[in-house]
Amino acid sequence: MKKIALVLLILAVAASFGFAQRNRTLIGIAMPETHVQRWVKDGNSLKTFAEKAGYRAEVQWGNAEQAQQNQQIQSFLTQGAKALVVGCINDGVRSVIAEAARDKVIVIAYDRIIPNSADYDYFITFNNFKVGQLQGQSIESALNLKSATAAAPKYVTLFAGSPTDGNAFFFFDGAMSVLNPYIDKGVLKVVGPYPRTSADRANFQRIATENWQAPIAKTRMENLLSNDARTVTLDAVLAPNDTLARAIIEACKADAKYRTKLPAVTGQDAEFDSMISIKNGEQTSTVFKDTTKLAEAAILLADQVLKGRPVRIPGAVLASGDLAKIGDTGRKVVNTYLLDPILVTKSNIRVPVNAGFYDAAQAARITAR
Ligand code: BGC
Repeated sequence: MKKIALVLLILAVAASFGFAQRNRTLIGIAMPETHVQRWVKDGNSLKTFAEKAGYRAEVQWGNAEQAQQNQQIQSFLTQGAKALVVGCINDGVRSVIAEAARDKVIVIAYDRIIPNSADYDYFITFNNFKVGQLQGQSIESALNLKSATAAAPKYVTLFAGSPTDGNAFFFFDGAMSVLNPYIDKGVLKVVGPYPRTSADRANFQRIATENWQAPIAKTRMENLLSNDARTVTLDAVLAPNDTLARAIIEACKADAKYRTKLPAVTGQDAEFDSMISIKNGEQTSTVFKDTTKLAEAAILLADQVLKGRPVRIPGAVLASGDLAKIGDTGRKVVNTYLLDPILVTKSNIRVPVNAGFYDAAQAARITAR
C-alpha cells in the first residue's frame, strides 16, 4: 500500500514538473544580426539569464533584415510569449511591436531603441552619448590635441554607424562634442565630409555605414585614401565600432603611406579580434560595454515588470534630464535604463578580461606577453 502511494506521489510530482516546464512563461529574444560578434553573445546570455530566472526562452537572430526579424517575433507571439526582448534592425519592426502591445505582451527594447513607436515602455542600453565621448577622448589623447597648433594641424576622417540605428546618432554626437572645439580652433582638420552633428543629415548620410556592414566601410576608406586623403597623412579615424574599425585598418594597411604608422582608430564593443589588434598596437581603443551585465539587467527588468513589481536595476540609472533623449522614440519617451561604458586602450587592456568578458583561451591570448 505504502509502495503504491509512493509511486503515485512520484508520478504526480513528475507530471506536475512536465506541466510546469510547458507552462513556464515564454520570453522571446530577438537579436539583430550575427555579423557583429557581440550579438551572438548577447542572445546567448539573455537566454541563459532568462532560464536561470525560471522562464522558458527562445532566441533568434535576424540577419540584419527586418522582415526576417518580424517573422521571428511573430512566431514568439504565436507561441504565446509574454515578454519580448528586442534588439531591432530598423523602424520596420514597429508593426509587430504594435501587435505585441495589443496582446499585452511586455516589450523591452534591448540596446537599440525601437524608433517611432509608442507601443512599449522600456528601453535598456548604455549611455550611448558617453560611448561617443570616450571615442572622441581617445582621439584627443592619441593626437595630443590639447597641445596641437593651427600651424601643424592634425587630420581626421569620420565614420558613423548605420543611419537605421538610433545609437549611431548618439555615438557620433558624443564624439563630436569632444572634437568640434579642436576643429573650430583649426588644430584638427576633417578630411572628407564633415557633419558637425548628426542633425546635418545630408553629410551624416555620407559618412554613415548602412547596417554596420564592414565591406561598406572598407570600400569607403579605400576611396577616401585615393581621393580626399590622397595629399595628406591621416592622424586619426573616428570609427564607431570594432567591426568597422578593423575594416578601416585593413584598408589603411594596403596603403604604403601607413605601412609604418597607422592612424589612431577608435572602436566599440571590446570584440576579441579588436582586443588582439589593440594588443598588437594597431587599433587604438575600443569601448567596453559589459553586455553580460546588460543581458542580466534586461531579464531582471522583464521579470520585475512581468511580476508587477517596482523596477529596480542595480548598476543602471534611469535616464533623466538631457540623457532622457536617448529614450525618445520620436512618438514617446520610454523609461530608459543606462549602463556605463568604459574606454579601453593598450594600457588598461585587462579591464574587460578581468570582468570575465572572454573565455579562458581568449583571455590568455589577450593577456599573453
Ligand atoms: C550597438 C553596438 C554595435 C552596433 C552594430 C549598435 O546598436 O550598440 O554595440 O556595434 O549596433 O551591431
